[in-house]
Amino acid sequence: MSISAAEIPQVPTLQAIGNRRSIRYFDPDRTVEDWKIQTMLQAGRLASCQGNINATEAIVVTKDSDLWDEIEECVSGFNVQIINQSSHLIFWLTNLNAWYGRANDGLSSLALSGALTKYHGWNYEFTMTQTVPRLMSFPTERTEMLLRFETGQAVAQANLAGTALGVGSILIAFGRKPGGVEKAFGLGPNLKFTWGHAVGYPLEDAKAGGQRVRLKFNKLFHNGAYGVPLEADPQVDAALKEIGMIQEQAPLAGRFEEIDELAARFHRDPGVVSWPAREVTRLLKDEDWDFGPNIRKRAEDVLAAGGLPDYPEEMKETFRKIMEEHNLDVRKFLGDD
Ligand SMILES: Cc1cc2nc3c(=O)[nH]c(=O)nc-3n(C[C@H](O)[C@H](O)[C@H](O)COP(=O)(O)O)c2cc1C
Repeated sequence: MSISAAEIPQVPTLQAIGNRRSIRYFDPDRTVEDWKIQTMLQAGRLASCQGNINATEAIVVTKDSDLWDEIEECVSGFNVQIINQSSHLIFWLTNLNAWYGRANDGLSSLALSGALTKYHGWNYEFTMTQTVPRLMSFPTERTEMLLRFETGQAVAQANLAGTALGVGSILIAFGRKPGGVEKAFGLGPNLKFTWGHAVGYPLEDAKAGGQRVRLKFNKLFHNGAYGVPLEADPQVDAALKEIGMIQEQAPLAGRFEEIDELAARFHRDPGVVSWPAREVTRLLKDEDWDFGPNIRKRAEDVLAAGGLPDYPEEMKETFRKIMEEHNLDVRKFLGDD
């Protein structure tokens, strides 16, 4: 089915950002329309990229693919159910050869577009003798780091476009068989598989139980110097709430009933995973997190219900060792022992 402009819903960008969730339950009986997949890919294609080199590519796959079984063997265990209920999988790739092959043409295309101008000091001789050769001489590790970043930009933009069209998305790890995706698609060494992206119509409520908690704004953003908190203006936050960018925090009322109903429908285990009581208690006291009333209430209920597990001692040892190696405050993350 094709589409006319009048039929494309227009959701304001900031509201789409607020509506986005990682969707983990897709309706297995609904296929996302081609035009919506196309719109998501266009959003990725239009994302900003260094020197206009277009390093991000993607392979779109559906379950009728001959490669499906091989793909399923590669996806991390907790993502198997997700991909099997999704409508499409998008395998996002980063083409390192774009850097070495297209840096020159990419910059030329920008000059032709009226983007690179003499005003900013662009100069043909310098570009040819200095800029382009310097860029092209980067080792592949450096190029890879730079280009993976821009694939992230493209994916985020595609994800957001999907959200605006009512299409659910989740990025999924393919950690079960390292190198398996590259092998399945026969990708050469220049084509890095960056991330898997499952797409479909949400079977869970599109709010997916509410906006997921993050660290506080002033713990993430710094004012002029690292460690000097940049404070969020409450009036701005209030306005962002009004337009739907900041939404009610998870878990919304009915979320756990919803999870159990979905589990019963597909003969899966009900419920969620729980952490040990002392860990939940410690986490809730952590000042870094922006815990609102919903999640605090849920934590209280979980603690009151009891029956929570404890880490095996050797696990704590592993965590402690890794944190110490990274000079982290072990007491903050594991509590006083
Ligand atoms: C790069 C990336 C990889 C992710 N991989 C997985 C995954 O393998 N399985 C999964 O269930 N969620 C995965 N997620 C989803 C995150 O866990 C999710 O972002 C987090 O729960 C926050 O929720 P939100 O996206 O709804 O805000 C991934 C997210 C990102 C950005």
